[in-house]
Amino acid sequence: MPQIVVLPHVELCPEGAVIDAVPGKSICDNLLDNGIEIEHACEKSCACTTCHVIVREGFAALTPSEEDEDDLLDKAWGLEPASRLSCQAVMPDDQDLVVEIPRYSINHAKENH
Ligand code: FES
Repeated sequence: MPQIVVLPHVELCPEGAVIDAVPGKSICDNLLDNGIEIEHACEKSCACTTCHVIVREGFAALTPSEEDEDDLLDKAWGLEPASRLSCQAVMPDDQDLVVEIPRYSINHAKENH
């Protein structure tokens, strides 16, 4: 079973985590199923940016993003080349991932600045 290494996030996962991931399921659902409460404001329908993650390792193994995901990502806080919307990025069969949850989602960024 592939694993997701989640890098530490101040609120969601202060110590970081290593979870067993279910292939074919989104990264977002895998995180939620393991108690990491990543935001998913649009209920995973590819209409927000709150589920944004940066895939530090394993990015190339993911199915490429669609245009609507890319359009949303352009608005995400802390966009990087390996950014994905975690509700759209599906866990591959045999590739471990290292995932970073950005410090802010767009909602938080607005509140704090
Ligand atoms: Fe809104 Fe993923 S939860 S795009």
